[in-house]
Amino acid sequence: MSTIRPYRSALYIPGSKDRALDKAQTLATDAIIFDLEDAVAPDEKIAARALLVQTLAKADYGRRAKIVRVNGLDTEWGADDVAAFVGSDIDALLIPKVSTPEDLDAVADLTPDVPLWAMMETALGMLNATSIAAHPRLAGMVMGTNDLAKELNSRFRADRLPMQAGLGLCLLAAKAHNLTIIDGVYNAFKDDEGLRAECEQGRDMGFDGKTLIHPAQLEIANTAFAPSEAEITLAQRQIEAFNAAQAAGQGVAVVDGKIVENLHIVTAQATLAKAKAIEAQS
Ligand code: COA
Ligand code: MG
Repeated sequence: MSTIRPYRSALYIPGSKDRALDKAQTLATDAIIFDLEDAVAPDEKIAARALLVQTLAKADYGRRAKIVRVNGLDTEWGADDVAAFVGSDIDALLIPKVSTPEDLDAVADLTPDVPLWAMMETALGMLNATSIAAHPRLAGMVMGTNDLAKELNSRFRADRLPMQAGLGLCLLAAKAHNLTIIDGVYNAFKDDEGLRAECEQGRDMGFDGKTLIHPAQLEIANTAFAPSEAEITLAQRQIEAFNAAQAAGQGVAVVDGKIVENLHIVTAQATLAKAKAIEAQS
């Protein structure tokens, strides 16, 4: 099972955008990814880092998970980005373009204890997903579907057929190592229907949530990745029916014509725990 903390929505905010950084204190997002990498232009990188350090020291982001996406260590900014957040009150450092577990070792050596998250967005990263997920410092994965599409030379398709192999490999690796895993962004931020369909696809596959680029996308992701009323009610009924069956000396129950075994109860309890965590978040 994935973590109890909800990660339905993870909103990227360019570290250079003062107004957006401020606004995020009141947005209904489960996590914020403060970006110093691709959303920040080269000549703004150093100022953005300073602004972000300053903002994180004074702003109140409440229960929202605070994740900082640094530049890669193969750039002129990466090492200083990592150093700037040593000892700061953040939930994770997100490392871009992780292709091997050694990419994570290099960051881990520079920072003693903050959990690391990996951007999964290179072809090599997909093939090494298992060993990356096994890294002792790794706590989460984020799909970087734009970079992956660029490497694959694949085209956008609403069904994301070209992405399926990579998404599936990373999901398997994340689940095998009990990591949080968040789906990639939906670029067309005014296309609500397209976003909803992609959220539902990612949810059905097992992702914990979706990375987002605009506040207008929050509600759709938050709804898609939360258990629905019907799912909550069904989970409660399954637990009741299973308890009653056990009390009667039976190992399985039947609800709505479907078998309910011990393993379904684990899922039902996870659904209720998730609903509770979401309630606590809002
Ligand atoms: N986080 C927080 N607030 C955001 C935001 C974000 N990602 N994107 C927009 N906003 C805010 C704006 O500051 C603005 O607030 P205001 O009304 O108080 O001024 C409001 O939402 C409306 O913004 P809008 O005018 O619709 O957006 P835009 O045209 O200025 O910007 C984008 C559109 C896509 C450039 C912008 O949303 C963005 O930079 N997104 C993040 C991109 C990113 O981080 N990419 C890296 C990962 S893929
Ligand atoms: Mg990327």
